[in-house]
Amino acid sequence: MRIGLVGVGRIGAFHATTLKSLPAVEQVVVADADATRAELTAKELGLEFAPDVPSLLTSGIDGLVIAAATSAHAELIAAAVAAGITTFCEKPVALDLAETQRVVELVEGSDVPVHIGFQRRFDAGYQAAAAQVRSGELGFVHHIRANTNDAFPPPAGYIPTSGGFFRDCTVHDFDIIRYVTGREVVSVYATGANRGEAFFGEYGDVDAAAALLTLDDSTFATVSGTRYNAAGHDVRMEVLGSLGSIAVGLDEHTALRSVEAGVTFPGGEPHATFMDRFGPAYVAELTAFTEVVAGTREVPCTVRDALQAFRIADACELSRKENRVVFLDADT
Ligand SMILES: NC(=O)c1ccc[n+]([C@@H]2O[C@H](COP(=O)([O-])OP(=O)(O)OC[C@H]3O[C@@H](n4cnc5c(N)ncnc54)[C@H](O)[C@@H]3O)[C@@H](O)[C@H]2O)c1
Repeated sequence: MRIGLVGVGRIGAFHATTLKSLPAVEQVVVADADATRAELTAKELGLEFAPDVPSLLTSGIDGLVIAAATSAHAELIAAAVAAGITTFCEKPVALDLAETQRVVELVEGSDVPVHIGFQRRFDAGYQAAAAQVRSGELGFVHHIRANTNDAFPPPAGYIPTSGGFFRDCTVHDFDIIRYVTGREVVSVYATGANRGEAFFGEYGDVDAAAALLTLDDSTFATVSGTRYNAAGHDVRMEVLGSLGSIAVGLDEHTALRSVEAGVTFPGGEPHATFMDRFGPAYVAELTAFTEVVAGTREVPCTVRDALQAFRIADACELSRKENRVVFLDADT
């Protein structure tokens, strides 16, 4: 199959390489608002190049991968749906809730499959955790601890079109908590701070944050994250149940060092970026997308899933700004 890809920045260039390696993909065609960037990437990776998005959409592609800046997602999804092209779009769907809801209505009112990129759903650890929660072997889950700690911040230019820390970063934790537990979030209390470079605060954003979520079965989930974790890219989840407790992402590469005498675990090299941490998950995710394109698989993460994760992120942003508990149904 022939796959189009819009946006060849950090994740787009990475997805282009992954797509090229998939047996189901014969050709990858790339475009970017910065045509020179797309042309250079195409040359470097041995891909086809389209000078703009309209030419990409009419170049006979079977599926489209959107990895452009978040601010462009809604418009690009709408263009792909209008052209009837099966689409994968990086999270989040849009910068605000109203636009996300418009995209959900558009996609659900069409018959075009749209898959949203929450790659943790394709990580073996999170899948095993979900299976153990669903089987009941952990008993009832009383607490979840989830974290997303980036080793270093993105460039300043990324921040104004990112949607802010909760919508850009911990939105992954919100999605995976829904996926692992099968429950919905009822209320949140969130806070954040800008203690690193000043540009976060200048755009009204934070570089570290924490949130307490209450789920509809009274499970408590704490979510924390930072853009400054020089120890390494550290993404984990603990699921604590009445009969057993498990950890996702706790292995030799975990970016933690024990201060206990004689304890050498974890002793391996910590992950540096999300590409290292989730390499196999991205391959599995895009393989799943090719199956959606081929019509052999249902969309594994829908725009409605993305809307639910976004609502949690939005509620956290409101909670942080107003310093109060936010109830998802009443307040958002
Ligand atoms: N799932 C993940 O783990 C993950 C990780 C990183 C980023 N992301 C998401 O991927 C998206 C891109 O992030 P990034 O870090 O690669 O950003 P980036 O700034 O490195 O790259 C964005 C690219 O999009 C292009 N672009 C912007 N507007 C465009 C438009 N209208 N049409 C075509 N191209 C356009 C830019 O020129 C740039 O090349 C964001 O939505 C981000 O949330 C997801």
